[in-house]
Amino acid sequence: MIDTKTKLCCVIGHPIQQSISPVVHNTLYARHGLNFVFLAFDITNVKSVLLGLKHMNVSGISVTIPHKQIVGQYLDEIDDVAKEIGAINTIVHRNGKYVGTNTDWIGAVSALKEKTPITGKRIALLGAGGAARAVSYALKRENAQIYVFNRTKDTALKLVDDFHLDGAYTLKDSQSIRECDIIINTTSVGMIPNSEVCPISTEAITNNHVVFDIINIPKKTKLLQMAIEKGATVVYGHRMLLYGSAKQFELFTNVKPDFLVMEKTLQTLFEKG
Ligand code: ATR
Repeated sequence: MIDTKTKLCCVIGHPIQQSISPVVHNTLYARHGLNFVFLAFDITNVKSVLLGLKHMNVSGISVTIPHKQIVGQYLDEIDDVAKEIGAINTIVHRNGKYVGTNTDWIGAVSALKEKTPITGKRIALLGAGGAARAVSYALKRENAQIYVFNRTKDTALKLVDDFHLDGAYTLKDSQSIRECDIIINTTSVGMIPNSEVCPISTEAITNNHVVFDIINIPKKTKLLQMAIEKGATVVYGHRMLLYGSAKQFELFTNVKPDFLVMEKTLQTLFEKG
């Protein structure tokens, strides 16, 4: 029952209708008997909204597109992980302070580890934007060799420089992608509504690859369809969402979420489309 002791968590972004966070978090509150409620706010004025949420004593805030890189300036603290990645997807209320952190990287590494070890592997990282930074941070910690493939080579070079990665290429360099063990797509290419496109050509994929697309709508992107046709192992983007959301839930409530309930909830959401 919602009463005066109910704690509020929320997700902020623009647009927000694609967010699965309210359903996942509210289902878990019910499962664990927590007096919390989770709402979604479609916002553009980050500064005033964050100030308001702070005054309202909100317990936790999930941050999504396009605010991940700008919320930091309105917070009391940013932890080292979020500083290094340069993006915040989670704001936690701790001891009266609003602290920015990042759980995207945990989601990425956990999803990948379900299908392959990472240490020492050669990774073709497609894209060099905000999502690529979170994935680079995660893979660096696992001592992988990371090669960045991006439409704009200068942006790839910048990412390589920032995270001390192993090489920069363009997305057209199919031969260099073939020589890697794992392909990870962090570009927005293939995301709904442009789900018929793929960031790389089919020649770049072999049956020895593990192919991970962090896009989760559609579930089976063009890249993953091509990978399946080639006989490669695939990792779906919604597994990253699952692990990232689990960590976020724990940070907001101090309770470890029931993982099976999360999996079932996500499965139902993705089946509904
Ligand atoms: P995010 O925070 O989701 O990573 P971003 O920082 O805007 O978003 O980065 C988007 C990434 O997708 C970039 O690597 C971008 O490539 P550029 O650096 O060349 O812009 C890539 N991207 C976006 N649209 C693309 C397209 N049509 N073809 C190839 N790459 C694309």
